[in-house]
Amino acid sequence: MCGIVGYAGPGTGRRTEQDVDLGPGPSQRPLEVVIEGLRRLEYRGYDSAGVALVGPDTEDVAFAKKAGKLVNLRTELADRSLPAATAAVGHTRWATHGGPTDGNAHPHLADAGRLAVIHNGIIENYSELRRTLAAEGATFRSETDTEVAAHLLAREYRAAGDLTAAMVATAGHLRGTFTLLAVHADAPDTVVGARHDSPLVVGLGEGENFLGSDVAAFVAQTKEAMELGQDQVVTITPTSVSVVDFEGRPAEGKRFTVDWDAAAAEKGGFESFMDKEIHDQPQAVADTLRGRTDADGRIVLDDLRIDEAVLRSVDKIIVIACGTAAYAGHVAKYAIEHWCRIPVEVELAHEFRYRDPIVDAQTLVVAISQSGETMDTLMAVRHAREQGAKVLAVVNTNGSTIPRESDAVLYTHAGPEIAVASTKAFLAQITAAYVLGLYLAQLRGNKFPDEIATTLDELRDMARKVQTVIERGEYVRATARSMKDADKVLFLGRHVGYPVAMEGALKLKELAYIHAEGFAAGELKHGPIALIDDGQPVFVVVPSPRGRDQLHSKVVSNIQEIRARGARTLVIAEDGDDDVRPYADEIFWIPKAPTLLQPLLAVVPLQIFAMALATAKGLDVDQPRNLAKSVTVE
Ligand code: F6R
Repeated sequence: MCGIVGYAGPGTGRRTEQDVDLGPGPSQRPLEVVIEGLRRLEYRGYDSAGVALVGPDTEDVAFAKKAGKLVNLRTELADRSLPAATAAVGHTRWATHGGPTDGNAHPHLADAGRLAVIHNGIIENYSELRRTLAAEGATFRSETDTEVAAHLLAREYRAAGDLTAAMVATAGHLRGTFTLLAVHADAPDTVVGARHDSPLVVGLGEGENFLGSDVAAFVAQTKEAMELGQDQVVTITPTSVSVVDFEGRPAEGKRFTVDWDAAAAEKGGFESFMDKEIHDQPQAVADTLRGRTDADGRIVLDDLRIDEAVLRSVDKIIVIACGTAAYAGHVAKYAIEHWCRIPVEVELAHEFRYRDPIVDAQTLVVAISQSGETMDTLMAVRHAREQGAKVLAVVNTNGSTIPRESDAVLYTHAGPEIAVASTKAFLAQITAAYVLGLYLAQLRGNKFPDEIATTLDELRDMARKVQTVIERGEYVRATARSMKDADKVLFLGRHVGYPVAMEGALKLKELAYIHAEGFAAGELKHGPIALIDDGQPVFVVVPSPRGRDQLHSKVVSNIQEIRARGARTLVIAEDGDDDVRPYADEIFWIPKAPTLLQPLLAVVPLQIFAMALATAKGLDVDQPRNLAKSVTVE
């Protein structure tokens, strides 16, 4: 959702790597930095964009904003002569209050055009504030909730004469969720920000400082960063960063170094970020495993700040997450229950919080999130902690809110995931869940050290096998191209194949806008089989024939049942599985692997299929319609 960038620094000088042509005015480092930051935040999803600039010679804020993609804003800027600036803010908007129009795009101005505000989140009490401010004489020009923050800040600034103090006072009036950034013509080298339940990170440069929704906004400029806590106001100038809380008392941010390179967030020669990220998956699995064992081969999780005695006493695990991350949670359930004999529930974060869940000090809540900012998951984390549970975050993004608010964190090391639809984060989340499961088994003595070592070795070998599946991708792509007119696709799986089926369906829905459903194969006869008619494409994830409990033969029977009713069967099966051949219209072979680890392989053809089919339909696979990468509102 909305992307936010702020910059305070010299008006001219070093250009960004993009060498952005921004029109006839003087060289504009602030504008270049902000536009480059917005470009890097495009992945969050947006429908309009805007910038605001102030400089020593500006009477009013200079600004531009346009509905649509960033290119529209850049075209608008190219026709304009802008004053030299020393501070700038930029925004990509994902519409909530008011449609995606030029007028509703941010920034919103107040104080006779001398103050500009951008915002991420939802201001819940905006109607009453709007009435009050209008009665006081404010003129509203948009349908947004954000504009009340601009007028409120202008009013508080008139009273306080200081932008930071005015922001503190403004934050006190707002309910809901917000990150706000503001510039004022009176303070041409300053950007002030506030955050409440919405992300904001500081980038620390030399003679310049940055603000961003996440580190991607400024990673091309600096890797030195600072996390802000909840309910803090930050003021940056070229040479200073100061933080206060919502009472105006001095506060501290936590410094960290971004551990990935700006190039990691580039396409690197691939046609799309999604394609690149699918190809990153072997690395994501390997990196998530790296450094997790000591010299004796025992699993060590350094970031896990929960006392071992507490982990030993855990009698229930609840995984909370949304979307793809929740499907990773389903895989975690099968693995952790099998290895550790602890009951594991998996719950969508937005349902968990509102159903009065039974959670206590013996419950370990595992919150899985790529972004670390998903509001539904964050709220569930808070709820769990209020009930006395320990919360362990499995998160990909450094400096994000969920790990900060959890008791412990297990970082996945997938690197930046830019495509809106999640791929490599899913594999990294599953890998981290396996590590956690094995760690708990080690700690609680559920498994012998040599059993754990064997599973770890098998897990380490998965990166190579994922690579093999990717290399076999052309057959999947060709099949997808031949199916570009499909209007309904079903996915079946059993055991860990069930979450894989659901993830395959989700990928197809979000990328190709095709109605797709994932079912537990055993559920078929209880209803969904009625959907099967002549030619209906059905993907089936087949477990390893070497697996347990006749899982394999049950799924082969399911394939026969649907084929007998006319389904076109697209089967994902292990190399050498001859039992499926007679019943499969297409087979996507994957290398042999232990049943519990198979999701790391089986999901890859489904990702490639969805991407290739969407591409064949001429759709943008990196930014599917209506979706946002980081869902920062409930
Ligand atoms: C699907 C997808 C979403 C996310 C979900 C949670 O491809 O990307 O379903 O998985 O919004 O996001 P995070 O993991 O950032 O909490």
